[in-house]
Amino acid sequence: MSGSVDKELKAKASAVIDPNNQAPLGSAVRDLVERDGRVALDVVLGYPCQQTRAPLEAAIRSTLMADERVQAVSVEISHAIVPHAVQDGLAPLDGVGNIIAVASGKGGVGKSTVAVSLALALQAQGARVGILDADIYGPSIPRMLGLSGRPQTAGEQRIVPMEALGLQAMSIGVLVEVDQAMIWRGPIATQALQQMLNQTQWQGLDYLILDLPPGTGDIQLTLAQKVPVAGVVTVTTPQAVAIDDVRRAVAMFGKVKVPVLGVVENMSTHICSQCGHEDAIFGSGGGERIAEEMNIPLLGQVPLDAQLGRTIDGGQALMVAQPDHPVSHRLGEIACRVAARLAMQSQNRTVRMPKIKIVE
Ligand SMILES: Nc1ncnc2c1ncn2[C@@H]1O[C@H](COP(=O)(O)OP(=O)(O)OP(=O)(O)O)[C@@H](O)[C@H]1O
Ligand SMILES: [Mg+2]
Repeated sequence: MSGSVDKELKAKASAVIDPNNQAPLGSAVRDLVERDGRVALDVVLGYPCQQTRAPLEAAIRSTLMADERVQAVSVEISHAIVPHAVQDGLAPLDGVGNIIAVASGKGGVGKSTVAVSLALALQAQGARVGILDADIYGPSIPRMLGLSGRPQTAGEQRIVPMEALGLQAMSIGVLVEVDQAMIWRGPIATQALQQMLNQTQWQGLDYLILDLPPGTGDIQLTLAQKVPVAGVVTVTTPQAVAIDDVRRAVAMFGKVKVPVLGVVENMSTHICSQCGHEDAIFGSGGGERIAEEMNIPLLGQVPLDAQLGRTIDGGQALMVAQPDHPVSHRLGEIACRVAARLAMQSQNRTVRMPKIKIVE
């Protein structure tokens, strides 16, 4: 008898919509048991997210409590991050579960700011994260993470990633002099980037955030074709010119069949540091428009905030310096949505999983 009640309640819980990706929980709901009106269930999400657990838990609870047979609900939420599919014909990188690329058509829209924030937020939510700065002509990750000196090598072909704010990090900026990289032509630059990517000894990463150079030229296209990327996050500002460029970036990733996880609208409003008034100085609705037009999710809006800019440019990201700041919170929500969107993508079946032996 109770088996069929369990099944019915499990179906109800599985239909609950996850606020992070607007998809039903489905098979994330495990082991539901009902005894005398008390329900206990485990939910295993495909992404880490302490920050947004409360609303999800509340949604599950209220759905189950609406059933007259249920008097109490106890939910246990945990996560298991798996590698997701990459472009056909590419093999995943050693030591890296998922590469998430951060791209924009236009320069200066806050791509690196979003990349660093995304990395730190996913780490804060419980994932192991690395960041790779592929912006060959204008690497800014060393400054944003306070990296200095040269990385160590392990043997001739291996580079040990540097560490900053708990992240594994690598940038062309710590490998070669910027003046030297500046004069590289496209093919040499792409080759250098690929070498850096393949030779860095990433250690057990759930996510590697890839900060791409701005634009949709040859270097970006080659990276989109040759780097095993699981998903891409695009960044725009509300102005029409930036949005036109995002359109091109989305089209480029569409061509190489990398899923676009969504768009982040940066500098969407200005919050006055004196009075707290929020003003859409660059116009509003741009992110929403592009999301609708290209049929991709709007992952969130980040306000223009003096403290965010100052801290990130000083090597002390706001998320670390002030984790409770409202902007840190918004960045955290965006990171949860990014990871939740990625979790909806198909798994990478080519990754060898450890064999499980069952002893009877
Ligand atoms: N939301 C924000 N509030 C305040 N300052 C910001 C915000 N986003 C970015 N900035 C500042 O704007 C500048 C450009 O940002 P960032 O370097 O992240 O852009 P980018 O798109 O990576 O640029 P590039 O195309 O040169 O790589 C930085 O100095 C950063 O501190
Ligand atoms: Mg940048």
